[in-house]
Amino acid sequence: MKILGIESSCDETAASVVEDGKKVLSNVIASQVEEHKIYGGVVPEIASRRHAEAISGVVKNALADANCTIDDIDAVAVTYAPGLIGALLVGVNFAKGLSFASGKPLVPVHHLRSHIASNYISHAELKPPFLCLVVSGGHSHIIEVKDYTDFRIIGYTHDDAAGEAMDKAARAMGLPYPGGLNMDRVSAGGDPTAYKLPHPRVDGAPYDFSFSGLKTAVLNIINNSKQKGEEISVPDLGASYMNAVVDCLIENTEKAAKDLGYDKIVLAGGVSANSVLRKRMEQLCTKNKWERYYPELKYCGDNGAMVAAQGYYEFIGGNTADLDLNAVASMSIE
Ligand code: KG4
Ligand code: ZN
Repeated sequence: MKILGIESSCDETAASVVEDGKKVLSNVIASQVEEHKIYGGVVPEIASRRHAEAISGVVKNALADANCTIDDIDAVAVTYAPGLIGALLVGVNFAKGLSFASGKPLVPVHHLRSHIASNYISHAELKPPFLCLVVSGGHSHIIEVKDYTDFRIIGYTHDDAAGEAMDKAARAMGLPYPGGLNMDRVSAGGDPTAYKLPHPRVDGAPYDFSFSGLKTAVLNIINNSKQKGEEISVPDLGASYMNAVVDCLIENTEKAAKDLGYDKIVLAGGVSANSVLRKRMEQLCTKNKWERYYPELKYCGDNGAMVAAQGYYEFIGGNTADLDLNAVASMSIE
C-alpha cells in the first residue's frame, strides 16, 4: 500500500511516498531555514507564504521520484496538528484538494505521532509497545506508545521545549538559527563541566520537565561575563548547557522506564539528532540492558516520509477525514 505524506507544520515543505509504512520511495524537502536565519527564528507569516509557493512542486517531485502518479497512491496523509496554523493550513488545503480531485482517501496525521513513526522507517523490526522520548522545537514529552495509534503522555514540559530552550540559549550565545543544531556543532570539543548550571526538577512530577530556568541561568552567565569584560567560551558554555538539558531528559526517561517496566526506549523529534543525547541514551540503555532506537539523521527533522509512515497506520486503523478537515495549532497526541 502506497501512502503520500505531506508536511508543512513549521519551516519545511515536505512530501514523500512510502510503501507499507516502511519503504521510502521518495522524500522531498524544501527547507526555509536560510530565509528564517536572517530573523533568528521562524517567522510564521513568511513560513506560510513559502509553503504556498513550494507545495505544488514538492508534491509533484515526490510522486515523480517514486515513479508514481496520484493513481498509484492509496491515500493522502497530511499533518493537520499541532504547528503554526497558517503553515499547517497550506498542507491541509493542498491535501484536501488532491484528495477531492483524485478520489483518494484523506488521512489526518498528528505531528508528534509522525515523529515517532520515523523510527518504523529506520528500524523495520520496531513494534509498539515502547517508551518514547519525543523532543522537538515545540515539544518535550515522555510518551507510552501502546500501539501504532494508541498513546499516553507520561511527562511533559511546563515551559520551554528542549529544542526551543536550546534555540533560545544558542541565540543568546550568538549562534545562528537553528540554534540547537549549531550549538551541537560548535560544542563538539567543549568542556561540559566548565560552567555550573542548574538541573531543574518539577516538584511532585518526576517525569515532567522545566527548561526556562536553565535558559535564564545561561543569560545570567553571558551578562555577568559582559559586565566583567570577560569572554565566554561558546564551546564550553554550549557543552555545559547541552549536558544540563540532556541530564534532565535522561533522568526522567530512566525513572519512567523503570517505574512503568519498559525495556525498549525510542527517541524522536528534531532534538533526537543531538550528539550528546544520543551518546547518553546509548549509555543508559547499555547500563540497563534496554533496547534503544533512534531515527536516522535524515528523518529526525520534519519530513514527509514520517507523515506517510504514520499515515499508513492511521489509514489501516480506519482514521480518515472528510473535506471539512481543519488544521489545529495545538492538540494532544492522545
Ligand atoms: O522536530 P523539529 O524539526 O521541528 C519541530 O517539530 O519543532 O525540531 C526542530 C528543533 C529545533 O529546535 C532545532 O534546534 C532542534 O530541533 N535540533 C537540534 C539538533 N538538530 C535539530 N537540537 C539539538 N541538537 C541537534 N543536533
Ligand atoms: Zn517536528
